[in-house]
Amino acid sequence: MPVSDISYRKRFLTKDNVYLPHLVIIEKIIDETPDTRTFHFNFKDKGLREEFPFKSGQFGEYSIFGIGEAPFCISSSPTRYDRLEFTVRRVGSLTNALHRLSVGAEIGFRGPYGNGFPLDLLEDKNLVFVAGGIGLAPLRSLIWNVIDNRDKYKNIDIIYGARSPADLCFKYDLKNWDKDKSINMVTTVDKGDKTWKGRVGFVPQVLEEVAPSADSAVAIACGPSIMIRFTFPVLAKLGFTPEQMITTLEKRMKCGIGKCGRCNIGNLYVCRDGPVFTYAQIKDFISDEY
Ligand SMILES: Cc1cc2nc3c(=O)[nH]c(=O)nc-3n(C[C@H](O)[C@H](O)[C@H](O)COP(=O)(O)OP(=O)(O)OC[C@H]3O[C@@H](n4cnc5c(N)ncnc54)[C@H](O)[C@@H]3O)c2cc1C
Ligand code: FES
Repeated sequence: MPVSDISYRKRFLTKDNVYLPHLVIIEKIIDETPDTRTFHFNFKDKGLREEFPFKSGQFGEYSIFGIGEAPFCISSSPTRYDRLEFTVRRVGSLTNALHRLSVGAEIGFRGPYGNGFPLDLLEDKNLVFVAGGIGLAPLRSLIWNVIDNRDKYKNIDIIYGARSPADLCFKYDLKNWDKDKSINMVTTVDKGDKTWKGRVGFVPQVLEEVAPSADSAVAIACGPSIMIRFTFPVLAKLGFTPEQMITTLEKRMKCGIGKCGRCNIGNLYVCRDGPVFTYAQIKDFISDEY
């Protein structure tokens, strides 16, 4: 089993060159949607896996030699020790290069970075997960984490949407959560097709229809900025305070560790102080983005 966080940090993150990546091997590739893939990976030095602790919501910097480096959250749960996964939507040079990789490819990885979701704040609460598109990737890690410790949490609502049925990520997980009687799973698409028998509607509208109670609850939302922009007011209407709303932010990053100053919002660095924030922490800074 993994040893303590401190031991890993002592051994790997305080080396002279904090930018030096570890080599990891791609072990499996899953096509999620036409533009999104999940990569299962492991450290080339198998001993490192034993000592690699991470929290749901943390991210890593992944590199392809000669092309570049970019941050992606770890989309698997720390409670599933046999898995390390990240999920990538193809948008530019590095993400296209990652999509060209085959099983067996070696890439660089440094991390884990960032704060992760505040599990202590979520304990004994009703949890409302609200996600859109690839935004389910960080939430998925937390959802499995919560399911694997089910008795620590109360009701779970998951409201997940994508542009079309083909754009729904992690369909295998959605099926599992749908079958789980202790979860209220609601899936929606902006536009259905001939095969789609489920809900049609934007995530914030569906959230309003489902209307989860804000009483003893925390909402965790992640998705495209347009979805987040309309989700916070709906949550507020349902009675959630800014302290009861959590999200993860994405900013252009370089170092990932609070040194280059690339990712600030107000006086916060998204890489070091986040990427997970309560709405109360960020509401004064993000009006231009959301
Ligand atoms: C903490 C964190 C976690 C992330 N987790 C994931 C994840 O799990 N899965 C995933 O697919 N993506 C994730 N991202 C976004 C991912 O890092 C970018 O998509 C990636 O850096 C794009 O690299 P590229 O070289 O392919 O694109 P570029 O060629 O650099 O850019 C292509 C386009 O994407 C835009 N872009 C690039 N980076 C970002 C960014 N960080 N935010 C918004 N727009 C950007 C550019 O402005 C440009 O329009 C995360 C970002 C952060 C900061
Ligand atoms: S990415 Fe360098 S300070 Fe955040």
